Amino acid sequence: MSIKTAIVDGVATIEIARPEKKNALTQEMYLAMADAINAAGADGQVRAILITGQPGIFTSGNDIDNFMNSPRSGLDAPVFQFMEALIGCDKPVVAAVTGAAIGIGTTMLLHCDFVYVADDARLAMPFVGLGLVPEFASSVIVPQLMGSRRAAEKLLLGDPFTGEQAVECGIANAVLPAGEVLNHARRVAERFNNLAPGAVRDSKRLMKEPLRAQLRETYKAEAAVFGDRLRKPEAKEAFQAFFQKRKPDFSQFE
Ligand code: COA
Repeated sequence: MSIKTAIVDGVATIEIARPEKKNALTQEMYLAMADAINAAGADGQVRAILITGQPGIFTSGNDIDNFMNSPRSGLDAPVFQFMEALIGCDKPVVAAVTGAAIGIGTTMLLHCDFVYVADDARLAMPFVGLGLVPEFASSVIVPQLMGSRRAAEKLLLGDPFTGEQAVECGIANAVLPAGEVLNHARRVAERFNNLAPGAVRDSKRLMKEPLRAQLRETYKAEAAVFGDRLRKPEAKEAFQAFFQKRKPDFSQFE
């Protein structure tokens, strides 16, 4: 199983563990993460959720083979179940990121409450480079967070950015040495063991609820375009180029 879960000292940890494919996320993995978030939300013993990857790789994003050979259809697809679970979660979610966090690896961070990144972290939202469009409401959240200039670099050009830049533009709380990120994130999650759980949930709900309807509307609008683009020749060229380890050639498209 490529998603490992554990509940220790009030913290439900969700660990992405598919290192041989750089933690690329499959439909089965999205479902496992959605189930783990929903179960943690319903478990009275769980005070916070911690999402992490492997040393040196958070996730390389959606499995590109899945994009190519079994593109998502419909809003009940596993990736949307994961998005819905994360957006709707009323318990604090903490992320610990080392290495690459690409595509949904970055956009899921926009929906976590605390994000700690390693000094080796490399974030990117290279949707356009794959012939795709932003997802997980990033088309709205990213410009709001960092302004339209920096958002254009990250969403239109797909420029990667460091952990330090992620802090600077409001995506992450702090940068730490790679070997310390997970422990630091766990300590933050464990602090919720000493706080009133009902007050934490109500506070998070008050912070998030006014925006949830807009986020859902946005990710559904993005999903319609994204799903359409997954089947277009531009995306097919980009996916083939990835597996052939070459740069995509978009020169024939208008
Ligand atoms: N989907 C499917 N397979 C992936 C993958 C992905 N998102 N990311 C990596 N892999 C696979 C590679 O195909 C390779 O498989 P192979 O050993 O069978 O050839 C293996 O994982 C190792 O990846 P590789 O690219 O050789 O590792 P690297 O250390 O040189 O680079 C990354 C790591 C994460 C920078 C690079 O793999 C990458 O850019 N991945 C794709 C990111 C992306 O565009 N994601 C989609 C965002 S919407």
